[in-house]
Amino acid sequence: MEVVLLPTPEDCGRVVADAVAGSVLDALARGGPVVLGLATGSSPLLAYRELLRRHREEGLEFAGVQAFLLDEYVGLPAGHPESYREVIRRELTDALGLDPAVVHGPDGSAADPLRAARDYEQLLLSAGPVAVQVLGIGANGHLGFNEPGSSLASRTRVKTLTEQTRSDNARFFGGDVAAVPRHVLTQGLGTILGAGHLVLVATGEAKADAVAAAVEGPLTASCPGSVLQLHPHVTVVVDESAGSRLARAEHYRYVLSHKLEAQGW
Ligand code: F6R
Repeated sequence: MEVVLLPTPEDCGRVVADAVAGSVLDALARGGPVVLGLATGSSPLLAYRELLRRHREEGLEFAGVQAFLLDEYVGLPAGHPESYREVIRRELTDALGLDPAVVHGPDGSAADPLRAARDYEQLLLSAGPVAVQVLGIGANGHLGFNEPGSSLASRTRVKTLTEQTRSDNARFFGGDVAAVPRHVLTQGLGTILGAGHLVLVATGEAKADAVAAAVEGPLTASCPGSVLQLHPHVTVVVDESAGSRLARAEHYRYVLSHKLEAQGW
């Protein structure tokens, strides 16, 4: 696992964009379909803006790429502005020129959400593997919407959000916690581990405990983010605030400043 500690959220956005663009370009160069795994929420937004800038100004192309979301709320009607399908179209994929038909997410409006979860897992397995998966982390250590206690081997399924996550996400629903759905469809932690490269981004003090537990704590379902420790290619990109409780911060800085160019992301 590489931990990249950077001064500002903007620096984090640039490094995440580098890592995503690099993995996508490598996968395109190898030929065949390329699958990009996307998270929603605030953490990746600066990286997405940087990818959009490179697309507009530097000709970074995403033709041939399919996108798969990590998760979705259950019960929001299709087209709801806070459904993750809509959020990702608005924030990223429309402007990248990706046809909505190649931007996939679990169907949170399905009459049978359990079946929708199984169908999504199958779709992902048949289209995948995901070349690079962008991840945020919840203040309680959740990855995707795998809340503490989630099986480290889990696959896509229905989960129930903690009240903390509902209240953290109320800001997207005009501050109204009651408007945040209680249930979600989420890729499982085992599903997420199937991606070729995991890139987690976290900024701000509120994420400092979760980042330290995920990176340096024990491997445990009590901190779903700790599942990253099982994956052979993980890049954790954090600003100084989110990285402020990392015991080995000095070592991560030392490693970064002595990185061989050939190592890439
Ligand atoms: C969203 C997702 C969540 C978020 C996490 C952090 O698709 O999977 O795990 O990454 O809740 O959210 P923000 O970035 O809004 O703090």
